[in-house]
Amino acid sequence: MPRMMNQELRPETLCVQAGWAPKKGEPRVLPIYQSTTFKYETSEQMAKLFDLEEAGFFYTRLQNPTNEAVARKIAELEGGVAAILTSSGQAASFFAIFNICEAGDHIVSASAIYGGTYNLFAVTFRKMGIEVTFVDQDAPAEEIAKAFRPNTKAFFAETISNPTLCVLDIRKMADIAHAHGVPLIVDNTFATPINCRPFEWGADIVTHSTTKYMDGHAAAVGGVIVDSGNFDWEAHKDKFPGLTEPDPSYHGLSYSKSFGKGAYITKATVQLMRDLGSIQSPQNAFLLNLGLETLHLRVPRHCENAQKVAEFLQGQEDVAWINYPGLSSNEYYELAQKQFRGGQSCGVVTFGIKGGRERSIKFMDSLKLAAIVTHVADSRTCVLHPASHTHRQLTDEQLMEAGVRPDLIRFSVGTEAAEDIIADLKQALEAIR
Ligand SMILES: Cc1ncc(COP(=O)(O)O)c(C=O)c1O
Repeated sequence: MPRMMNQELRPETLCVQAGWAPKKGEPRVLPIYQSTTFKYETSEQMAKLFDLEEAGFFYTRLQNPTNEAVARKIAELEGGVAAILTSSGQAASFFAIFNICEAGDHIVSASAIYGGTYNLFAVTFRKMGIEVTFVDQDAPAEEIAKAFRPNTKAFFAETISNPTLCVLDIRKMADIAHAHGVPLIVDNTFATPINCRPFEWGADIVTHSTTKYMDGHAAAVGGVIVDSGNFDWEAHKDKFPGLTEPDPSYHGLSYSKSFGKGAYITKATVQLMRDLGSIQSPQNAFLLNLGLETLHLRVPRHCENAQKVAEFLQGQEDVAWINYPGLSSNEYYELAQKQFRGGQSCGVVTFGIKGGRERSIKFMDSLKLAAIVTHVADSRTCVLHPASHTHRQLTDEQLMEAGVRPDLIRFSVGTEAAEDIIADLKQALEAIR
């Protein structure tokens, strides 16, 4: 079961040390518990685990010690009380919501979100009987509030949206969500807890695609859900009976009454993972932990390089427009300065090339160091054209609603020498002249 976290250490120390604290004679490095199951002495001991009367591991579909250690590290980094690793970022978004929603319910989501999440909400959730209303996160609070209904169960948005790089005013969103008695769920993939800790601004639950900066090496797909422990499910028990009322599949146990602040993650673990089974493999959790050990070194480097790239592109004649929250001309500059540690946002820069979609694609094809891959937030600089790739399933109307311009190039600045990345951009700009 989730344990309470040590919130006193700095992020740099947590990246390196949190999660795994070996006792006498135990491995210094977090081991991969490559075991589907765990041994007990008596049948009664095992029965107690199944009744959730005692904490312990019994089957890796629900929990595994490697995963638990890495989840604890991320929970500490985010300043939350508990976390669960999922098989992907998509699974994290899905389970974060499905843990408190069912057929007949409704959620409100920012429209500026990752294309895969948009599809999950607009198509798959609808098939499951969960309706989603998309809102412009920059609209006035009164406008956004109109989207909420009596059966609304959550408000979802991204700290920095992929690929539109809209910076979320987390406090504003949290106030709207709380005024309607629902939690704010924030996908913090792009900012990472190094640059932003959404709980400090009022968010209740945080999700990540750990596939991105957290792993950082494009080695392991994964996700995580972190709970702040701050949302009072009991105060809104009419909305969240799944957390507060007896669960017949656990002999009438109530998660909120039995586990308090650990209720949300416990339910996701013992009910959703038991029934739907999408936890991260311990191998991937091990790789993720290696990535996390250097997150505090890599993220600032990504941001410094991205700043240099953005400043370079800003001065280029062939660049039609450029979007990076670190540019003082950017509409989110002030918010980024206020909400993000040292004003640093992420390593992703978006821009368009004069001449529209075709010329933007030609430019991308001319890059040599930056590789065209379906990925972002990797140590290696990479590039993608969302309208042709990640957002391909979206109609033109949905693309515009998600703020994705047809000429938008998503340039994910890596940790190489900024001079080499800029030299690559320079030669590609010359190649299309
Ligand atoms: C912001 C964001 N959230 C979620 C996801 C989905 O994560 P995954 O690819 O790990 O399933 C992505 C993937 O690009 C993303 O960028």
